[in-house]
Amino acid sequence: MDIQEQLEGTKVVLKKYHATFELAQKLYDLTIENKEHLLRWMNWAVPLVSGRVEDEFAFLKICEEDWKNKSHFEFGIYEKETGEIVGGIGLIKLSPSCDKKAEIGYWLVKKACKKGYMQEAVQLVEKFAFDLGYNRLVIRNEVSNAASRHVAERLGYVFEGVERQGHFCLAHKQFADINVFSKLRSEYEKGA
Ligand SMILES: CC(C)(COP(=O)(O)OP(=O)(O)OC[C@H]1O[C@@H](n2cnc3c(N)ncnc32)[C@H](O)[C@@H]1OP(=O)(O)O)[C@@H](O)C(=O)NCCC(=O)NCCS
Repeated sequence: MDIQEQLEGTKVVLKKYHATFELAQKLYDLTIENKEHLLRWMNWAVPLVSGRVEDEFAFLKICEEDWKNKSHFEFGIYEKETGEIVGGIGLIKLSPSCDKKAEIGYWLVKKACKKGYMQEAVQLVEKFAFDLGYNRLVIRNEVSNAASRHVAERLGYVFEGVERQGHFCLAHKQFADINVFSKLRSEYEKGA
């Protein structure tokens, strides 16, 4: 089956990350501009804000390689109205062979929040994943990340429980409890 490199919604378009210096610069600049908004929740942003654009470029190269190996699918989130990139979303931690499970991770720049972009982006990645044959999708977020929790709940993900100290928060330099949400293929097919 062909792997779709672009997923089209009504508000956003998701496009596979390509390792270009221009995209690396754009993502680097967005991270710096949104550091107050992102640092608290996204561990990758912590080294990046004190790093260099080359670090982001190296990440994009890894994403391209991972895509080729089908081990991780990362997309940029583009606002349809402006064509601007406003965030990222990835299908990560893939177990394609037997368990057929994967996790969805995401972020938006501050000015793109509260417009319904993430709910749409997650739905697009969800369809992408179930079309690829996955059976279980997971969304994990820190227990204090109300915005991310809201995305999972609004889309019908089932709260499974708390993974105690399941994450080390680099911004706070301490372990944090993690909510685990999931959606199964059977729930997706029923329109959960
Ligand atoms: C987590 C994060 C992506 C959530 O973003 P968000 O903007 O709250 O989520 P959405 O884009 O889905 O927006 C949904 C909300 O937009 C608002 N909204 C405003 N106008 C809207 C419109 N025309 N259509 C739909 N929703 C609209 C609503 O409040 C809606 O919530 P509702 O469905 O309960 O009505 C964002 O807060 C973020 O990137 N945070 C920093 C990084 C992070 O925490 N990442 C996750 C780590 S686990």
